[in-house]
Amino acid sequence: MAQIEIIYFSGYGHTTKQAEAVLEGAQSVGNARLWALPEDGVASEALWDAADAADALIFGSPTYMGNAAWQFKRFADESSKRWFGRSWSDKVAGGFTNSASTVGDKGVTMAWLQTLAAQHGMHWIALDQMPANAMGATTADRNWAGGSAGALSTSPSDASPEEGPREGDLTSAKDYGARVALWAAKFAGE
Ligand SMILES: Cc1cc2nc3c(=O)[nH]c(=O)nc-3n(C[C@H](O)[C@H](O)[C@H](O)COP(=O)(O)O)c2cc1C
Repeated sequence: MAQIEIIYFSGYGHTTKQAEAVLEGAQSVGNARLWALPEDGVASEALWDAADAADALIFGSPTYMGNAAWQFKRFADESSKRWFGRSWSDKVAGGFTNSASTVGDKGVTMAWLQTLAAQHGMHWIALDQMPANAMGATTADRNWAGGSAGALSTSPSDASPEEGPREGDLTSAKDYGARVALWAAKFAGE
């Protein structure tokens, strides 16, 4: 079975909820694990080993000040050794982000996660979910944020991690995790 490693940072637990939904989806197709980066952003040797051996890596971070949290950026910068050795070339890639505002400049974070995957020579999997953007759309609808690159979620600034991300965001994250895992399996020749 394809091996999918979900590498993410969460400062206050909201992005963790989104990551858990991505995990649930990915596990419905392949072997998937969550790797939460610590407060100092330093990835463990076990994480690096798992990433090197994986078929797919899914990157996740809250959007802080219009981009990924610095802890995730530290991980990305430290992945330059892998970039130099082309260690992650041709792996499947995906990404997700969560922020308080509906827009909140999440698109910048997603574009940067895509760029990180491209620098490594990875194959980025798009969200492939129709946006829920009609008059009657609610936060319970899948992809109500209307993203296309990866999974987006919105956790209102006064929401606990249990209250936000909302149902539609979690469904979007779950289905996206399954989609990345499916493509990881296809790339692995399953
Ligand atoms: C330092 C900092 C910067 C933030 N910048 C943004 C931002 O640019 N856009 C936004 O919508 N929310 C922003 N937020 C809100 C967080 O994205 C939001 O609270 C998110 O749910 C936090 O996820 P976490 O609990 O996984 O850390 C910011 C929060 C912090 C702490």
